Amino acid sequence: MFNKRTRIKEILLSDNVNYQTTVMGWVRTFRNTQFIALNDGSTNNNLQVVVALGSLDESTLKRITTGACIKATGEIIASLGKGQKVELTANEIEILGDSDAEKFPLQPKKHSLEFLREIAHLRFRTNTFGAIFRVRHSLAFAIHEFFNKKGFVYLHTPVITASDAEGAGEMFKVTTLPLDGTAPKNEDGSINFKEDFFGRSTNLTVSGQLEGELAAMAFSDIYTFGPTFRAENSNTTRHLAEFWMIEPEMAFSDLEDNMNLAEDFIKYIIKYAMENNKEDLEFLTQRLDEEEKQKPQNERSEMNLMQKLEFVVNNSFERITYTEAIDILKDCSHNKKKKFQYIVDKWGIDLQSEHERYLVEKHFKKPVILTNYPKEIKAFYMRQNDDGKTVAAMDILAPGIGEIVGGSQREERLEKLTQRMNEMHIPTEELDWYLDTRRFGACPHAGFGLGFERIVQFVTGMGNIRDVIPFPRYPKSASF
Ligand code: 4AD
Ligand code: MG
Repeated sequence: MFNKRTRIKEILLSDNVNYQTTVMGWVRTFRNTQFIALNDGSTNNNLQVVVALGSLDESTLKRITTGACIKATGEIIASLGKGQKVELTANEIEILGDSDAEKFPLQPKKHSLEFLREIAHLRFRTNTFGAIFRVRHSLAFAIHEFFNKKGFVYLHTPVITASDAEGAGEMFKVTTLPLDGTAPKNEDGSINFKEDFFGRSTNLTVSGQLEGELAAMAFSDIYTFGPTFRAENSNTTRHLAEFWMIEPEMAFSDLEDNMNLAEDFIKYIIKYAMENNKEDLEFLTQRLDEEEKQKPQNERSEMNLMQKLEFVVNNSFERITYTEAIDILKDCSHNKKKKFQYIVDKWGIDLQSEHERYLVEKHFKKPVILTNYPKEIKAFYMRQNDDGKTVAAMDILAPGIGEIVGGSQREERLEKLTQRMNEMHIPTEELDWYLDTRRFGACPHAGFGLGFERIVQFVTGMGNIRDVIPFPRYPKSASF
């Protein structure tokens, strides 16, 4: 058996000393041909491995370089130096994988996030990305724990589908037809998808919601957690072409139940990370503090990362209607002084992220749930309100990010739903299976989608969504 080792986190957390053990990891630095800072990814903290003088031959010593992978065996002792409680005095060191120090792109110095994005295959080995991806892991775990405790069934919805769940037409096509112009055609010149792999035109899913609704009409409560794909040409710090989404769907629920669940859910997973990733979040708080110091005083945030998380967990989200939001925005001095790129002048406009961020960051200074949007700017499946103008939608807006959740109560009345689909030119024949839920035992139900990377951004304080997913996909980029 090879894997007989102790994780560095375990060694550093324990007060035990004077025992023999083996560690394996990657060399961060090697000082004075004696002190190795070793990291195995279990924690951001390195274990100091001390090479006993004279214990290694010259050629092995030379191979202990930044980036090299080593195995060290020796005794854990109370540290003689400052900066760590314990250290390992190694009497045996084996080089598992060499690393040419001249060529290794990660030098023991500060690298920019942009540079690290170009070497995303190596950036896991930095403190910043170590912390981010351990936090991402914890949030994913907490999501499953939250829903499992509440009795929700985890549903795997398809990645390849023939439907456009959001009706927004931002889909990546999936096909095995040749792209060289020889694909079979219909008489009118269009591609004959009957000849394609699935015998029809298919795409990557933009949301698992419609399938989720089908299952909620049997299990009561379900959630999905999987990758979703959007071919929107958005080069922003909050959009990815491939992102992960969590979509709960609950039978016997209205808009208020939906908001309550979403708020509890977000608080639960943040709290989980705060309790289980304390060191990583402290590190990320410091990182953000330093980043903030580069900004002019008036642009700096009043709270540090830890305080922001604390604040969100301990305060209720503000709940207001779209109509109230428009009134606030129309009357605010920011709008009157024409400081928005898009002026807010009338009811019915889609809110831009500058408007969302104003509400959250300047006006309420806390997460906001906006409800009852105009039906014209929302998807076909949202429940129509009695006013004939709005739908039972909700978006949750978070400080620094904007929209993190989009959801609604669903239109469970068959007639109203088909009428809205017709108005919006959504083909009812293709979604007949979806309409069956309204034909056979429909009930009030609701659900939402949380953008996983957006909540990871919020919790880690990272400004760019491309830094919270291991290998980001965005326009003109699909490396690794
Ligand atoms: O608001 P959206 O489009 O809602 C839906 O897809 C619904 N079917 C959800 C539901 O009710 N079950 O997307 C939901 C969330 C957004 O609030 C945002 O956080 C995230 O998904 N999101 C993206 N995240 C990263 N990159 C993108 N391109 C995103 N588009 C949406
Ligand atoms: Mg949305």
